[in-house]
Amino acid sequence: MTTPLIDPFARPISYLRVSVTDRCDFRCVYCMSENMTFLPKKELLTLEELDRMCTTFIGLGVEKLRITGGEPLVRRGIMAFFQSMTRHLESGALKELTLTTNGSQLAKFAPDLVAAGVKRINVSLDTLDEKKFADITRWGRLPQVLQGIDAARNAGLRIKINVVALKGFNEDELFSITEWCAREDMDLTFIEVMPMGDIGNEDRIDQYWPLEDLRARLAERYTLKDLDHRTGGPARYVELAETGQQIGFITPLTHNFCESCNRVRLTCTGELFMCLGQEDNADLRAPLRADQDSTAPLEAAIRAAIALKPKGHDFDYDRQNVGGKMTRHMSHTGG
Ligand code: GTP
Ligand code: 5AD
Ligand code: SF4
Repeated sequence: MTTPLIDPFARPISYLRVSVTDRCDFRCVYCMSENMTFLPKKELLTLEELDRMCTTFIGLGVEKLRITGGEPLVRRGIMAFFQSMTRHLESGALKELTLTTNGSQLAKFAPDLVAAGVKRINVSLDTLDEKKFADITRWGRLPQVLQGIDAARNAGLRIKINVVALKGFNEDELFSITEWCAREDMDLTFIEVMPMGDIGNEDRIDQYWPLEDLRARLAERYTLKDLDHRTGGPARYVELAETGQQIGFITPLTHNFCESCNRVRLTCTGELFMCLGQEDNADLRAPLRADQDSTAPLEAAIRAAIALKPKGHDFDYDRQNVGGKMTRHMSHTGG
């Protein structure tokens, strides 16, 4: 038996998020600037190296793997990677293989994801208005995403819609998005906007819509019941008595959930970020490449990194100041 990964605050690490590319076919205004410089392809871990990384983490007790980006489905050959992870689901070592996607490529890939053992996926979608969607994603087209969602559901995937709560942008769609998800039998999670990356002129404080306020508005129309149910992610869930649907709240600002953090993030170049809201990271690429026959150097590097996992983020929008701001974009670590 190997010793499980436990951080200095006694939190077991069982969830690995892997950003397989920093590229994306959208340019969401709160995530990227319009002119992004992406990594040269030669900097990326190969799919074989990503496999070896993930397999090593799974050997150390990781049970949940979420593939992110950028947009994970724009990475060339990514289906081969999903297929290679299937063996860990079959062995029982991995309990969940999943992804967070902008939905643009789902029409093409949904059946292959299901064949690889993916059961549910998270789709980022902040508005159901075609014009607003084009504005916020800069490059995206809503019909393509809705077709992708349809294809995913037809293929048998359970869907969770991720909505970043943005003041003055999607406040007026709170009920229409909620009703759409109820009608289509999809889960729904709202997320507070975090100060990640330089996003040009957009002002974080102007964008910030605290989920306490959003929740209060929901409660004007629905009866909310808090649920204990967790998915291993940071969301807390409520059930709406009238529709029976579940709604999640991810509240890094109004209710910090770092005390129950169980995850770390691997980037496409092999950096391990121990916290989304801190700069600390460890290079795993060199130890991965150090020995082709043994993962011992990699395992040692992973354990050393986990031993440095910080207590939590310092995000804060206090008195018109943005605290704990990260210079890197969300697409670097995949959210
Ligand atoms: P499930 O609960 O399994 O559905 O997934 P998840 O909520 O962990 O994953 P998802 O990719 O849907 O993440 C939703 C949002 O939560 C993203 O905006 C992430 O940035 C945010 N998030 C996930 N983990 C953390 C975390 O450790 N800290 C902070 N501050 N935000 C996080
Ligand atoms: N704050 C909160 N969520 C963000 N996302 C991207 N940038 C931010 C941000 N600054 C979301 C995406 C996606 C998830 C992975 O992260 O919309 O749902
Ligand atoms: Fe792409 Fe997601 Fe960032 Fe939008 S939020 S630009 S879809 S990575």
